[in-house]
Amino acid sequence: MCGIVGIVGTRPVAPLIVDALKRLEYRGYDSAGVATVEQGVLDRRRAEGKLVNLQERLDSSPLSGTIGIGHTRWATHGAPIEVNAHPHFSSGVAVVHNGIIENFRELRKNLEADGFEFSSQTDTEVVAHLVEKGLRDGLSPEDAAHQAIQQLRGAFALAVMFDSDDNLIVAARSGPPLAIGHGEGEMYLGSDAVALAPFTNRITYLEDGDWAIIRRNDLAIFDTSGQTVSRQQQTSVGSALMVDKGNHRHFMIKEIYEQPEVIGHTLANYVDFNAEKIALRDMGDTQNPLEFSKLDRLNITACGTAYLAGYLSKYWFERYARLPVDIDVASEFRYREVPLSENGLSLFISQSGETADTLAGLKYCEESGQRLAAIVNVRESTIARSSHNVFPTLAGPEIGVASTKAFTCQLSVLASLAIGAGVQRGHIDEAQEKELVRALAETPRYANEVLKLEDEIKELAHSLANKEHVLYLGRDTNYPLAMEGALKLKELSYIHAEAYAAGELKHGPIALVDEEMPIVVIAPHDRIFEKTVSNMQEVAARGGNIILITDPKGAAEVGMDEAKVIVMPEMPEIITPIVYSLPIQMLAYHTAVHMGTDVDQPRNLAKSVTVE
Ligand code: G6P
Repeated sequence: MCGIVGIVGTRPVAPLIVDALKRLEYRGYDSAGVATVEQGVLDRRRAEGKLVNLQERLDSSPLSGTIGIGHTRWATHGAPIEVNAHPHFSSGVAVVHNGIIENFRELRKNLEADGFEFSSQTDTEVVAHLVEKGLRDGLSPEDAAHQAIQQLRGAFALAVMFDSDDNLIVAARSGPPLAIGHGEGEMYLGSDAVALAPFTNRITYLEDGDWAIIRRNDLAIFDTSGQTVSRQQQTSVGSALMVDKGNHRHFMIKEIYEQPEVIGHTLANYVDFNAEKIALRDMGDTQNPLEFSKLDRLNITACGTAYLAGYLSKYWFERYARLPVDIDVASEFRYREVPLSENGLSLFISQSGETADTLAGLKYCEESGQRLAAIVNVRESTIARSSHNVFPTLAGPEIGVASTKAFTCQLSVLASLAIGAGVQRGHIDEAQEKELVRALAETPRYANEVLKLEDEIKELAHSLANKEHVLYLGRDTNYPLAMEGALKLKELSYIHAEAYAAGELKHGPIALVDEEMPIVVIAPHDRIFEKTVSNMQEVAARGGNIILITDPKGAAEVGMDEAKVIVMPEMPEIITPIVYSLPIQMLAYHTAVHMGTDVDQPRNLAKSVTVE
């Protein structure tokens, strides 16, 4: 994940910015840069690789100036080389950015037509030129930055600095978090409070859609409608730690909110957004790349939430790549004496990369001479080190015991792998690949939109609190998602929850339905919407209380009388399971908070289960 730092200070800021960037290293990056303004001149140093390289540049060629912005970049658009490293310039404008600007292609085309020359392959550079264009049109720096921000679509955080004003940084948040730190005659900006801990613990978090004008002794924040807003200043307690809760009450909800950002970063590792192609980055043995066209079978093994990500991907691999998939919970797989195909691939999914049963499954496959692949969040983990092909999720540290962002990042990797497999196996042509990749690129924005439904979901969650049982229903990919919903609810709130494939309801579970039974139905308006709705009506006829998660078309067809409806945005089918994960997580979270359970550390559960 990219990291942003900015300082409007009173002393030379370049060394301070590098220090702050070091505190963001845990987010992962592959190049870094810093820019300052000194006597009306904008200057920068950038370097590929780790911060030591940037430090060396600064040692041999220091930057003076008491205002500056810095960045650690995890490549999304364009290779991790110096010309793509931030800050990006356009004459007197400097920009650092985190996230994905979805409409950058269109903006770039217009800017090129206006004569702007691009020196990088990044989506970020369009922002610098857009601001510059505003200045040329006679706008003030603040207004030029604001009008540029208004033209951007996607999930992003950014900071803009000007050579014409050494007491001004404009910052904006549309998705990924930004923290503003208050000092003595200095102001700071960072991707989190951890970055700013050496300078201050007095923090104001921007809310989604906010933009801010930051000066040494002044901070003005505006909301999406352009109104001045006041955001509470708080004392950051956890900032000495590597990760803190930000302005959230629990790690879990913080991690839910991080999803637009971490999904974007994870996808960027497996998708070339410029070329609109799948470009799988394998962190394993690069001499021995994975060739999906040579596989005749895929067997997936995992535990808990990671298992459900694997289960869901079975639908994708079989549909998009025509690759048969076996999926097992690791504790069953390891003793099942499974015959493995000679041309098969064994894939292990694990947030921690250390889960004992998953590792035992891996050993079994290793002994059988299988090719081993891993999807892990901890790259140095045993499962990653033991696998031939390694596809990391870039979720960052997940502290909440109940997995949220690791799950949606696993799904992001699996969707990319399934599409990549489809291309390699000749079942997806170029046009289909482009369309699917475009859909993937939109995931962070949709995820961000869905976070705005939190208040509504919170209210619905109160109707689940203190119920004895809850049913979750879904078909196709929404069936494993229903299982994840039930798992989240039971692990957090201790309410008994079960998931069923919606069509299976009439073969038994319908006997449980009465007026006391809430039923969560996950049904975007897709090919099989009608079928799921018929199952839902069977439940409604027996008095069950339905919470339907669907889109505007689905909501219009069902009508609000039959169900309480969470209306999601309409989106391409491939990404619905990723984006629909969010309301499911928030529903479980708020039910548990309402009931007063220990959300981040539910009873009896562990984050990393290294025993059998
Ligand atoms: C534990 C956690 C779950 C997690 C499972 C698998 O049970 O509480 O949230 O899904 O382990 O963990 P892994 O690290 O292998 O993904």
